[in-house]
Amino acid sequence: MQLNVLVLPGDGIGTEVTAEAVRVLEHVAKKWNHGLKLTDGLLGGIAMHKTGVPMPDETSKLAMAADATLLGAVGLPEFDNVAPEKRPERGLLGLRKALGVYANLRPVRAYEALIDSSPLKNDLVRGTDMIIVRELTGGIYYGTPRGIVGEGDEERGTNTMTYSRAEIRRVTRMAFQLARKRRKKVTSVDKSNVLETSQLWRKVVTEVSAEFPDVELDHLLVDNCAMQLVLNPRRFDVVVMENMFGDILSDEGAVLAGSIGMLPSASIGDQKASGAWVGLYEPVHGSAPDIAGQNKANPLGAIGSVAAMLEYSFGLIEEAAAVTGAMEEVLNSGKVTADLRPSGPPASTVEVGQAVCAAIG
Ligand code: IPM
Ligand code: MG
Repeated sequence: MQLNVLVLPGDGIGTEVTAEAVRVLEHVAKKWNHGLKLTDGLLGGIAMHKTGVPMPDETSKLAMAADATLLGAVGLPEFDNVAPEKRPERGLLGLRKALGVYANLRPVRAYEALIDSSPLKNDLVRGTDMIIVRELTGGIYYGTPRGIVGEGDEERGTNTMTYSRAEIRRVTRMAFQLARKRRKKVTSVDKSNVLETSQLWRKVVTEVSAEFPDVELDHLLVDNCAMQLVLNPRRFDVVVMENMFGDILSDEGAVLAGSIGMLPSASIGDQKASGAWVGLYEPVHGSAPDIAGQNKANPLGAIGSVAAMLEYSFGLIEEAAAVTGAMEEVLNSGKVTADLRPSGPPASTVEVGQAVCAAIG
């Protein structure tokens, strides 16, 4: 099969973890005889430096033309105080919107080998296996009106959380379809005791659930969900929520997986006629400028994102399973980066990438 992949390493540790993810992708392509065409592009702070905008038109064109996009991370401290439209993060939001990838799948698994890396008690995290489905192209991240106007005490910042029925319905369907292939349970998260957006959310999710009588549905308020995630994480199978709630709760989920460096994500939109999905694949973590350039970032979130790409965008189930199996083998071997608190000396980013390739064989 021919795999045309756009690579956007981005900023900070994004470049380092993406290099290892690409190493694994090249290894898989070679082993299973797939043609691989990699194209590099600019997004985020590096795009600001080279072109003056965080998402050059060229990048969105390349992303539209590719079968799938692999992204590192965006964000640099030097852009903290620039105008909102010049922030590296805006580039990422623009790319998600341009690609129409409205469902962001963030699996959270407690690997047995990492059970001691979580600050939570072993018995509590053991067996955790959930997917957070975060709505990705709507809600308060994109709603208008937005901005800062006025002066002095009257200076005012505004953002708008808004969802249409159609936007809620499509991401909810995605969550139910995923649940069908898993433990058949969907938890929908909202703040319907206060927000109208959430009242519509809950109504539409309940309506959609009628199409999936074999899948159980429950609803949790977002504040309670934040607590349940650390009190009883095994109760969750597929958890669906709006954009900002998903951003916040997926970082909380990272604590269950031992380190945020472990979490992959797949952002997908509608299925193409071929059955493949338009996909954007990125680790959940950010650009971590504090450890950038030191060859110590954990590349497993990025490598797990390659596994997700192989599965969702290319339907290569065997190859995807080989990558996740190899990741698990490397975890069990103890050859892991410092964030996972290994008992011996920590491995480097590059060493972990090489070890995953060796484990694939
Ligand atoms: C994430 C990140 C992004 C988001 C930032 C970098 C814009 O935190 O993917 O979780 O908020 O979506
Ligand atoms: Mg986030």
